[in-house]
Amino acid sequence: MRISKKSSTFAAAKVGTMIKNAQYIISSPDVKDCPQSNLPEYAFIGRSNVGKSSLINLLCHNPKLAKTSQKPGKTLLINHFLINGEWHLVDLPGYGYAQAGQKQREALRRMIERYCLLREQLVCLFVLIDCRHEPQKIDLEFLAWLGENGVPFAIVFTKADKLGKVVLKDKVTKYKERLLEDWEELPPVFVTSSETGLGSEELTEYIEGINAQLKIED
Ligand code: GTP
Ligand code: MG
Repeated sequence: MRISKKSSTFAAAKVGTMIKNAQYIISSPDVKDCPQSNLPEYAFIGRSNVGKSSLINLLCHNPKLAKTSQKPGKTLLINHFLINGEWHLVDLPGYGYAQAGQKQREALRRMIERYCLLREQLVCLFVLIDCRHEPQKIDLEFLAWLGENGVPFAIVFTKADKLGKVVLKDKVTKYKERLLEDWEELPPVFVTSSETGLGSEELTEYIEGINAQLKIED
């Protein structure tokens, strides 16, 4: 499989802009209800409880912006945040939450898939992975599905503060090796912690780099 060009070609672009203003816009039950705008959009996805909402709060310097919880299954809608008045960050529900009933899991899966396939403004989907775990089938299958459908993505390891430096490095290396069994090239990879702030600048710079590129192309 190949990573969609859209995300990887922008990997090296860097600019100094940071998030100065973040504003909650709307929570939508379906992609058709999402804001009508042509602003570039970046969404966070991953297993329930992986730290999507916490990472959005870290990037936006506002611990109360996106609702977080110790219990999985907190985010159940598509949440749009307007950043610097210029682009959208989107907090998506987690996938594969075991305690949710079959019906709810199916409904969430449909919501996520419809968003990924139909949201034309989506520039890059950040797939969050808990750095402590071995590669999980559900994540690898989701990545494969993104590849099959040409959805551009990057990988974000979360909760890096929970591991020591050496173990962290080893886990990330092993994960990349596993990815290279399925993919011809690696997607952009970020290592983050919402506790320590690790990776926050790199992620923001990556997004702003793409935004700058999109402006030039406009
Ligand atoms: P859902 O909306 O339920 O899918 O979860 P989510 O992926 O949005 O996770 P959320 O941000 O709500 O975080 C889940 C739990 O993990 C919370 O208790 C957070 O405090 C904790 N958490 C998130 N990120 C980190 C991190 O980087 N380090 C540590 N130590 N804890 C984290
Ligand atoms: Mg959440």
